[in-house]
Amino acid sequence: GGAPIGVTGLAVMGANIARNFARHGHTVAVHNRSFGRTQALISDHGSEGNFVATKTIAEFVASLATPRRALIMVQAGAATDAVIEELAAEMEPGDIIIDGGNALYTDTRRREAALRERGIHFVGCGISGGEEGALNGPSIMPGGSRESYTHVGPLLESVAAVVDDTPCCTYIGPDGAGHYVKMVHNGIEYADMQLIGEAYQLLTGVLGYTPAQCAEVFAEWNKGVLESYLIDITADVLAQVDAETGAPLIDVILDATGQKGTGRWTVKSALDLGVPVTGIAEAVFARAVSGSRELREAAHGLPGGELATTLQEALPNIDEATFLADIHAALYASKVVAYAQGFNQLTAGSVEYGWDLKPGDLATIWRGGCIIRAQFLGRIREAYAANPDLPSLLLDPYFSDAVAASTTSWRRVVVAATSVGVAVPGFSSALAYYDSIRADRLPAALLQGLRDYFGAHTYERIDKPGHFHTLWGGDRSEIRTD
Ligand code: 6PG
Repeated sequence: GGAPIGVTGLAVMGANIARNFARHGHTVAVHNRSFGRTQALISDHGSEGNFVATKTIAEFVASLATPRRALIMVQAGAATDAVIEELAAEMEPGDIIIDGGNALYTDTRRREAALRERGIHFVGCGISGGEEGALNGPSIMPGGSRESYTHVGPLLESVAAVVDDTPCCTYIGPDGAGHYVKMVHNGIEYADMQLIGEAYQLLTGVLGYTPAQCAEVFAEWNKGVLESYLIDITADVLAQVDAETGAPLIDVILDATGQKGTGRWTVKSALDLGVPVTGIAEAVFARAVSGSRELREAAHGLPGGELATTLQEALPNIDEATFLADIHAALYASKVVAYAQGFNQLTAGSVEYGWDLKPGDLATIWRGGCIIRAQFLGRIREAYAANPDLPSLLLDPYFSDAVAASTTSWRRVVVAATSVGVAVPGFSSALAYYDSIRADRLPAALLQGLRDYFGAHTYERIDKPGHFHTLWGGDRSEIRTD
């Protein structure tokens, strides 16, 4: 006997995932630090399935069938460590602790190693989809031992979102792999949102659209290649009217974006791995700029030079319909760049930590349930199916054609944004990345010359192997240093 799964931590995400298990016919043990929440869950939703309400961790663990499976849904960080300790004290070798929070992957690696010593499996499990996804089908990214997946996989797959009969849940890889993948998912989510924000800013700033008009544009775009959850809810947010003022809600929301840290972690890891994820980095920094209140207040009103104020001034000979299509193209191309970079980071992380991640599998489970869910992910899945070792999504025939078809528009958008003084760090840095990787020569040669000049750091030559140094302070002849 006993429940096949237990959930501890019954804030909205935890309560909803517990209900999701119950609704799928699994008996679910539930526990929360304060019993009131547990009681509330039972009284509000107890009729949805079989819940076993427990008051203490000991009672919670005792209510589970063996091997015991306990899903932790508490705040990442110290709270998670505390709950793990309490659970492990009551558990036996072979039992499984699943952490469904947004944990930092290095914490997950540490926890997995420590629990492995004690014979307990630790599954660092990314869960995406917000409150609604947790209840109706999230995208689930479980890491840990393969053996643990045989015990938790079927349960998790049964509550995940489903696309084309395939659950949006698969074994990701050892130790921190699941949380790493979730982290990069969130980094991509940041980049996606930043790009959408820039498109919106151009619709208002260059075309003079009202939020309601912008909402219509996004609703229209959601019928094409950009179709995605984020575009869909963008239309919703922009159409919302503030009950108090009667103004569009978007106009009364303070323009300072918060963050819980997953985007920042993504960029930190990318810096360590040397992977250029400029789209995610720009998105993280754009949030930081938006939140720099004192700086923005002090700098507000600094002159912008000679600015265009209309589309005609910014781009003579380009009409409204063309520019609208341009923004769409810039958004799409920049999005391809952001995903290409994110997938490159996943590959680099996989090599660094020996995870053997399968990019195509990740695209597959991100097609539904998660925040970045989109038709687009199906294309990424196909790209990796055609070539599992694809060096960049930008080299996949489908995406390279799509980006090539967008480049003229993309450049026009960056020109127009610059002309009117609207910052588009996402669009412009994505274009810079694209131009950099396709360039014949980069100014990196000059930087090598400078480094050799002031620090004898040496350089390589294009015409023969070896490392060389010019005797800058002497007769300026060149010597080979290896
Ligand atoms: C998801 C979301 C979710 C959450 C993050 C990001 O996949 O369901 O990514 O995990 O929204 O906490 O939030 P911040 O923007 O606050 O960093």
